[in-house]
Amino acid sequence: MCGIVGYIGEREAYPIVLEGLKRLEYRGYDSAGIALYDGQDIKLSKTKGKVMDLEARVDQEIETNGTVGIGHTRWATHGVPNDVNSHPHYSNSGDLVIIHNGIIENYESLKQELIKRGYIFKSDTDTEVLINLIEDVKKNENVKLGKAVQIALNQVIGAYAIAVFDKNKPNEIVVAKLGSPLAIGIGENEFFIASDATPFLEYTKKAIYLEDEEMAIVRRKKGVKIRKIKNDSLVAPYIQELQMNLEQIVKGGYEHFMLKEIYEQPHAIKDTYRGRLRAKQGIIKMSGIDDNIEKFLNANRIIVIACGTSWHAGLVAEYIFEDLARIPVEVEYASEFRYRNPIITEKDVVIAISQSGETADTLAAIKLAKSKGAFVFGVCNVVGSSIARETHAGAYTHAGPEIGVASTKAFTTQITVLTLIALKLAKEKGSISNSKFHLHLQELELIPSKVEQALKSDPHIKIVAETYKEAKNCLYLGRGFNFPVALEGALKLKEISYIHAEGYPAAEMKHGPIALIDEHMPVFVIATKKGHYEKVVSNIQEIKSRKGKIIGIVTEGDTDVKNLADHIIEVPETLEILTPLLTTIPLQLLSYHIAVLLDKNVDQPRNLAKSVTVE
Ligand code: G6P
Repeated sequence: MCGIVGYIGEREAYPIVLEGLKRLEYRGYDSAGIALYDGQDIKLSKTKGKVMDLEARVDQEIETNGTVGIGHTRWATHGVPNDVNSHPHYSNSGDLVIIHNGIIENYESLKQELIKRGYIFKSDTDTEVLINLIEDVKKNENVKLGKAVQIALNQVIGAYAIAVFDKNKPNEIVVAKLGSPLAIGIGENEFFIASDATPFLEYTKKAIYLEDEEMAIVRRKKGVKIRKIKNDSLVAPYIQELQMNLEQIVKGGYEHFMLKEIYEQPHAIKDTYRGRLRAKQGIIKMSGIDDNIEKFLNANRIIVIACGTSWHAGLVAEYIFEDLARIPVEVEYASEFRYRNPIITEKDVVIAISQSGETADTLAAIKLAKSKGAFVFGVCNVVGSSIARETHAGAYTHAGPEIGVASTKAFTTQITVLTLIALKLAKEKGSISNSKFHLHLQELELIPSKVEQALKSDPHIKIVAETYKEAKNCLYLGRGFNFPVALEGALKLKEISYIHAEGYPAAEMKHGPIALIDEHMPVFVIATKKGHYEKVVSNIQEIKSRKGKIIGIVTEGDTDVKNLADHIIEVPETLEILTPLLTTIPLQLLSYHIAVLLDKNVDQPRNLAKSVTVE
């Protein structure tokens, strides 16, 4: 996730901005850049790579005096990571400069308009479009920077935290926020701007956190004036006294990155369908699919290749694709696929799923599929990663950086992307009725708020975790769309608590695992109302009669399972194919709490790596 930093005051800006960028490194990034005002001009230095690389470059490229500066760490969303796409970005005149965290969804149409008016673009970013839009408004409407930013932002659809500087108004920085975070540190005659308070904590403990749809003009000496972007009304600044320490702020107040990332899911899922899903109009827009629609519609079958949690997302996709789009799907472990001389033809479409985009087995499997003539589509989180580059086309999940080794938000956002693709193909093929299509779109749009609701069970889940933390073995059961969720639930527990766990299709239990069940065995059963409910209830009865401990993941208001189970955890009701997006949440939280209670290293479990770049 991009990080932004800014300083305006009486000290030298460079060391403060540079140190601030280092503090934001935890957010994950692929490039870094800085803009400093030297009293006459804005000097800019930026590079693909680390803040360390930026430092070396700044030393050679620009003077570092000056008391105003802005800096950025970029986590690519539009345009691969390279020097040119790195922030800050100048406007065409060179008078304005911007840093931006977020996504401007309608950047393409704005860009075309600006090109018609003679603007030239050096980068592939949505951000360069925004700064030129601001410049255009400023010139045409003959307004000051703050007003120009406001008018421009009212034309923008998307999410942003921005800081804009105009060399002709060197005593102010204009900032604005919608969706992405932005904090303003208030010092004595000096102000700090940042994605969170970590960059300015040693200078001031006073901070204003901008709310969505607010902008502020931060003036040297004069202070901060906040307005609503939509209606221009003034907002009284609410200055908070910061109590947190550095580490707490880095983790957004959460104890671990994993927990932070679990809680980020409502936002992350929204970011995944932002600009793609228009439920009211009944439209799904995904350029990677639109441009290759014939390949998908004419495919004999889809082969999904992935590893770990991404493989589980692939299994969910198998159920969804076959159910909605009626295309046969096979899901393969990349490591098996690449070594088993698979039959692949030009009529196959391969979907490679990978959070990191760097997993060696998945990469090798892609190369093999390509060599046999298959069309390969990537679903990655990290923009510009090896898998994103190696595939013919793709769709990013836009989940933001995932730092906890155990994957959480990557999983739910992968399922979101794959659901969008399946719905789109179903619509194109005519395998879904109009009313069903619309219903699914509307329901998908409600998922973030339902995930939010599911997260509210956290305190109760903690109690359940306390009850079962000493277990030596656990069983996870689910059917249909929720069978892969059972696998994922078991994987999460194994990964971070080192308790042996197995995921099984609920009905398969009688062919083996039932022999393991006794009063010491907790069995987590996904038993939502839609999807073989009665059958799963029968499975629960089988467990109960063998004295197994039952923890049911159920639909809100359920009574049947409640009467049988030792514990239940409720999730909101939704359409059957969307249930994995909700049932996953309590299982993530459960593993998290058990691992914490057992005092394990949650974010960096033993022997595991976030990105497995070796076979
Ligand atoms: C590692 C990680 C898992 C991840 C798997 C696949 O094992 O620890 O969390 O699911 O790799 O990674 P990918 O980046 O390809 O999704």
